Amino acid sequence: MRLYRHCREHFEAEESFMKNNAYPSAQAHTASHNLMLDKLVEASRKIQHGDWRQNDTLTFMREWIQHVQNEDRAIGEYFRNKGQELEA
Ligand SMILES: [Fe+2]
Ligand SMILES: [Fe+2]
Repeated sequence: MRLYRHCREHFEAEESFMKNNAYPSAQAHTASHNLMLDKLVEASRKIQHGDWRQNDTLTFMREWIQHVQNEDRAIGEYFRNKGQELEA
């Protein structure tokens, strides 16, 4: 699934950034990524079986936005507060 691959690549880039910069919440953040990847696999299965509902899309999008607004944003805030030089 193309979306899965795109997400995994995005997550891997974030995870290597967190690792390279010793981000303290990297483990919890990575666990959130893995949970979302699991949900994408489940979504794919549901779509293939005709079990996907409009509400599932809304739920998935809401979780995704919450991750970006909370956990992804926290990375930026952490390093901004530290005033640290970053390695991509
Ligand atoms: Fe992200
Ligand atoms: Fe993330």
